[in-house]
Amino acid sequence: MLGDKKVVYSAVQPTGCITLGNFLGAINNWLKMTDDFLSIFAIADLHALTVRQNPAEYRQRAMSFFAQYLACGLDPSKSILYFQSHVPQHAELTWILNCFTYVGETGRMTQFKDKSAKHADNINMGLMDYPVLMASDILLYQADYVPVGVDQKQHLELTRDIAIRFNNLYSPTFTVPEPYIAKQGAKIFSLQQPGQKMSKSDPDPNGYINLIDPPDVIARKFKRAVTDCDGKIIFDEENKPGVSNLLTILATVTDRTVDSVISDFEGKGYAELKQAVADAVIEKLRPIQENYNRLVKDKAYLTEVYKDGAQKAAKIASRTLSKVYRKVGLVEG
Ligand code: TRP
Repeated sequence: MLGDKKVVYSAVQPTGCITLGNFLGAINNWLKMTDDFLSIFAIADLHALTVRQNPAEYRQRAMSFFAQYLACGLDPSKSILYFQSHVPQHAELTWILNCFTYVGETGRMTQFKDKSAKHADNINMGLMDYPVLMASDILLYQADYVPVGVDQKQHLELTRDIAIRFNNLYSPTFTVPEPYIAKQGAKIFSLQQPGQKMSKSDPDPNGYINLIDPPDVIARKFKRAVTDCDGKIIFDEENKPGVSNLLTILATVTDRTVDSVISDFEGKGYAELKQAVADAVIEKLRPIQENYNRLVKDKAYLTEVYKDGAQKAAKIASRTLSKVYRKVGLVEG
């Protein structure tokens, strides 16, 4: 809680690309929350350094992500938007919280184990410390809610454990955050392996729609989407995951129910369904892509927005950090 508003906090690593799945499953909901909450949103550019990045590419991608979030409609006058690395309190609180987190706790995180297996030549300290940095992100802002997907739930639980531990050892210092499960928010699956979530780290680009894919690429990807061979356009996630995914996408981007969408396709086949989904997605993304193309060229504006965001964020973060420094017994600077 800050002032009279509950705080919702989220961050995203600038890796891969922002997909249609991210947009329909997360960003769209996020946009609806900015009126009722103090919403704080960061590009988690320190987190993604836990795996090797090409510096020039990384810098450009981080900026592109920032511009894409603005292009989706995140409004800097309603929420705080910034780069994690611009607010030094994140790294500072991480050090303190490291001293309140056990090696066994971060070592058993599923993501740590997965990434260690994937990058066996680079199991660095940062990889292990990743969830503590994430805890710092959240706790610095006294966040009440953190919208998370299943893959980040374990990290949020650890965040809660660390907050409770610290609060019990000293006195109430951190708000203990809750996961925010959106009431609605479509779960979008890969176009190539419809049993799996549409993921920005999918090595097969045909599996996802990048928010800034040009229209002809979007049309091609939907044309190639995996379906099945019984030819029926019905919603059945278990037996017909590909077709059901296309129906979900079409219903979500057109703000209709799946049932009403299905009624459009009586007597029609998959080709028509794929064409309709492609057209609707292209239409939905058109204004976002136009905004993006304009914004990404406007370095001065982007800089102004992220500097202002970092300043606002640092004001909140430094208040929490001072409290923490005082409680653990550091001499006031
Ligand atoms: N670890 C998150 C992910 O990969 C990104 C993240 C970093 C985050 N800090 C956060 C998410 C704080 C929510 C809150 O998706």
